[in-house]
Formats: sequence, structure tokens, C-alpha cells
Amino acid sequence: MNRSGEEGGLIAPMPRPALSWQAGTPHARDIGDIYYNPEDGLAESRHVFAEGLDLITCWAGRDSYTLCELGFGTGLNFLLTWSLWEEAGRPCRLCYVGVEGFPLARADLERALGAFPVLAEKARSLLAQWPPPYPGFHRLVFAGGRIQLTLILADVQEALAALRAPVDGWYLDGFAPDRNPQMWDAAVFGRMAALSRPGARVASFSVAGRVRRGLEEAGFAVTRRPGFGRKRHALAAEFRGRPPAPVPRAQRFPELLAMPPPPADEPIAVIGAGLAGSLLARFLHDAGRDVFLVDPLAPCPTQPPVALAAPRPDLGTAPRARFEMLAGLFAQRFYGAMPDGAGTAVGGVIQLPAGGRSRHGAEAIVRHLGWEDDWLSLLPQADALWEGFAPRPALLWPRAGAIDTAAVLAALRAGLPLRQAGVSRIMRESTGWRMEDESGSVIACA
Ligand SMILES: C[S@@+](CC[C@H](N)C(=O)[O-])C[C@H]1O[C@@H](n2cnc3c(N)ncnc32)[C@H](O)[C@@H]1O
Repeated sequence: MNRSGEEGGLIAPMPRPALSWQAGTPHARDIGDIYYNPEDGLAESRHVFAEGLDLITCWAGRDSYTLCELGFGTGLNFLLTWSLWEEAGRPCRLCYVGVEGFPLARADLERALGAFPVLAEKARSLLAQWPPPYPGFHRLVFAGGRIQLTLILADVQEALAALRAPVDGWYLDGFAPDRNPQMWDAAVFGRMAALSRPGARVASFSVAGRVRRGLEEAGFAVTRRPGFGRKRHALAAEFRGRPPAPVPRAQRFPELLAMPPPPADEPIAVIGAGLAGSLLARFLHDAGRDVFLVDPLAPCPTQPPVALAAPRPDLGTAPRARFEMLAGLFAQRFYGAMPDGAGTAVGGVIQLPAGGRSRHGAEAIVRHLGWEDDWLSLLPQADALWEGFAPRPALLWPRAGAIDTAAVLAALRAGLPLRQAGVSRIMRESTGWRMEDESGSVIACA
């Protein structure tokens, strides 16, 4: 079995860590190591990681900064980084990537983070979005979209192989290298080099010989700095290698892919202001792009008044099944967090899986996935709830629901320019694209 992949054709849930608790601090029983310094985890995190990267200096004048942590654990480093980012006046967009192969159950996360009252509010936001142990990329959004956490639930090697992001800073926070060698492997360092921007920095608590040599061989210049508490040294490194190689892209639309990507300051037109177009425009706007919508009919008279935001339960490993499960989870988080209840108007969805695409019954799905029951639980007899339901077990998705499309669209489009026009032709020009209406008049260029 591949740990974060297949198990006889069924998706394998991520394994939970075996924990023991000592004075309120989690220990990994199998590995025999701690998650963070039991005396003062917060001060250690600040000294070793945030100051190790010199984040405040690195953030100044930047539009966005990408930080990748190997070993997300309890999220302490993430919450501390968020807190420093706030203290620094929210200087740039923060794209935080957390890689974790053994995600904590939410109750354990809550218990661990309960030890840090200064982070309580941020911990609550993280807990509210904490995903179930489904492998893959989970996108969590904080600080009104200024912080994006991409939590990759996968073994470190798989996660780094799948990641496409130019990284500015790395937190290396696996367990001690002699007990957790997979996290400090030459292949990990090689992949870090492939993803690093020139000058990318690395911070770690470990200055073990294999870590220093491995990083140096991969193109990082390594130095020791004073360690925290009883540790004499911590590690700081800087990438001196070449910029990341361009990512080979799919060849579906070769003529489009052959074009250079649009410059970051060019406006982007999104044609069609329905749910998909408005969501795309909102995310581009939140990512700092100059974006406008084009649609002749907004609001659209044929827009259904409600839409259902619920995952399609599929235990398969096919890319589409995985994408839909992850997208369904994202949709529940996203709509559930929309302001003023604009998102989920009706809480909870009941599904009666029956043959077809979802080959498994409700009991098998709930048992196999093992998610916390506020994500997914079993309704043993659907007809006990309403006699119109078939007399068999059903799935209950408490966070899913019907969304009020008009309210959601209004919230998504708020503040985004909208050109009310019907696009008949799109033409490529030397400097971008030109859109024309039926009469040949130019609507806009982008
Ligand atoms: C020292 S703890 C991280 C503490 C964490 N940074 C925090 O703020 O709580 C090390 C983490 O590395 C994770 N880990 C260990 N081996 C891994 C692997 N092969 N792939 C991905 N994650 C792994 C562990 O599950 C654990 O969460």
C-alpha cells in the first residue's frame, strides 16, 4: 500500500500519529520524539524558525511570500508566523505550504494548541477549517484571503514531487534526523532546491551532519546560529543554486501554452459572471491581480436560486474522484465561512448512495474514511428522519448545504468591475487579447 495513495483501488486515509501527552505536550510515541519544546514551544518557534528566516526583513516590500514547512504537526509554527505577520502590519500576501504525513485528529490539535492562549483566536480559525485525513492538497484561507494555507496531507516525498510553487523560505521541522530520516533525505533536499527561488532561506532546529551536508550538496550555503534553550546551535541556510526550472505543462492546448504567461500587472478579463466566473475573479483579485468580469446578463435571469454544495462521495483513487472530494471539502469551508451567512443557507445534506458512481454504501463510506462526524456521519435509517426516504442508511454531511446563489454572487462580485456586454469574438493581439461584441465594437482589452 502506498501510504497516501491506493489501497486495493480504494483511497487510503492518512494515518494518525500515535501520541502520548506529557505535561500537556504531545509526543510521537512510535518515533520517541517531541513536537516542540515542552518548556516554551512558542519562544522556540520564534527563535529557530521565524528569526532563522529573518521573516520581517524578507517580507518588507514584497507583494507575496511563499513559505513551506516540512512537518506541519500541530500548526504551532504556522500560527506563530501568522501572528508575526500581523504584528508586522500584514506586509504581503502569505502563501504558507504545510506538509504533513500523519495529521493530528482535531481533538488532539485543540488540546495541543490550548497551551498557547495568545494564539487562541487563530487556533480557533485553524480548528474550524482543519480537514479530515483525506490525502492531497487542502486549501485553507485566513485573514480575508491574505493568508492561504495549502496543507498537503501526504508523505514528504510525494508532497514535494506534486508541489508547484517557487518557495522563498523553508521551515525544516521533521522529528530528529536519526529517528525520522525520511524527512531529511537527499531526495527531499534535491526537491527543495528545484522549488527554491534564488536566495531562498532555510531554518531548522537541526544542525546534524547529514542535514548540513545534504543541504550543501543540493546548493544551499549553510551556517550555524545560536540555538534555543539547551541546544547550542540552530541552522540557517540560503539557496545559491539556479532559479527553478520551468514546470513542464500539460500539452492539451499547445498553442495557448506556447504563449508567455501574462505579466503580473496586466488586467485579466473573466468572461461570464456566473458562480464559476465570479469565484475565479474573486480568487484572482485576492491574489492581487487586476481583474474584471464581462457578462451581458448579470444578474442572470436563469440562474437557479439555490445550488447544492456537497461532496460526491467516492472512495476511488482516480484523479477525478480525488479532485471532487477535495473540491467538495473546500466548498464546504468556503461557503460556510462567507460573511453574514451569505453562503450556506440551509445547513446539512443527506445523501443515500446507491450504485452508479458511488459504488459503496453509506456504512462502508463512513467506516472507510473515518472522518470526524461534523464532516461526515452515518444516519442509520434515513426513513426515521422522513418517511419519504428509502429505509436504509444514509450519509449526513453537517457542513454541506444549499447556497443562496444570488447572495453568494453578490458577495463574490462586491467591488469587482463588471462590464455588461456580450462577447462575440476574442482576438489575440501582440500585447494581449481584444474582445468584440456582435457589431464588432471593442468591449475591452486584457
Ligand atoms: C517535530 S514535528 C513538527 C512540529 C510542527 N512543526 C508544529 O509546529 O507542531 C514533525 C512532524 O513531521 C511529520 N512527519 C514525519 N515524517 C513524515 C513524513 N515522512 N512525511 C510527512 N510528514 C512527516 C510528523 O508527523 C510531525 O508532525
